[in-house]
Amino acid sequence: MKELEINKLPQLPFDVTEALNQLRINLSFCGDQIKVIMVTSSVPNEGKSFITMQLWKMMAEVGTPALLIDCDFRNSEMRRKYSIRSVRNEKLLGAPHYLAGKAELDEVIYKTNIPNGFMIPVTSAIANPTILLESPNFTKMLDYCSERFPYVLVDTPPLGSVADALNIARHCDGSVLVVRSGDTPRKVVENSVQLLRRAESPLLGIVLNRADVNNRSSAYYHRYYHSNYYYKGYRGGYGYGHGSAHDKSNSNGGK
Ligand SMILES: Nc1ncnc2c1ncn2[C@@H]1O[C@H](COP(=O)(O)OP(=O)(O)O)[C@@H](O)[C@H]1O
Ligand SMILES: [Mg+2]
Repeated sequence: MKELEINKLPQLPFDVTEALNQLRINLSFCGDQIKVIMVTSSVPNEGKSFITMQLWKMMAEVGTPALLIDCDFRNSEMRRKYSIRSVRNEKLLGAPHYLAGKAELDEVIYKTNIPNGFMIPVTSAIANPTILLESPNFTKMLDYCSERFPYVLVDTPPLGSVADALNIARHCDGSVLVVRSGDTPRKVVENSVQLLRRAESPLLGIVLNRADVNNRSSAYYHRYYHSNYYYKGYRGGYGYGHGSAHDKSNSNGGK
């Protein structure tokens, strides 16, 4: 198996690690049939990739082999942001290569320097990935991966902009919706929940990202999501610290 090196994964503050750990544990209680989990959000920059990456790393670190599939084909920033490189400088192949019939599946699944952490990256932006996402190969890829890994985490584009995320949702066992605290309007979040419901994607959890727990609007969000009002499958809300080490580590290459 080829190998990737992830060079820029920062240490997170204790409270953020703790919240992610809660999310990991709650997902593990969703049952054995929930293996392929997509992480999505309503708009860009809510923290989908951040949460996917950190959750994946945490799963791997506790000894559960986990595969991260980057399915943000139009606009993936993972490679740059986390400084992901091929260990032996081989040509990187990603999910689109397999989906377009240009590589075998085994050629796009990489081991990483995170023990138990495996990844299918995206190597370059694709302007119109709809055909790839709707191809039979997409189903084959997820079936193959879910047979081989206890967990498959799928990073996606936002629900609000294009149909990609909903296309992906149809193939996953459930979704985690990331909401940027104090930023994403309530209506927009409601709309995303409706979209996932229509796609029949069980909502496994809502992550309240970058919450300032001393802030009144965050307190509001906590009440709102804990009300269990919007979705039957919803299991809880998670607050994450604002302005963690992650931002600092990205100060050279981040947004
Ligand atoms: N909880 C967090 N703490 C600190 N930085 C975060 C957090 N969540 C996201 N970020 C940062 O915010 C930016 C946008 O996050 P990203 O995961 O790329 O969003 P998305 O994938 O939803 O577009 C990135 O620079 C990311 O590192
Ligand atoms: Mg992203």
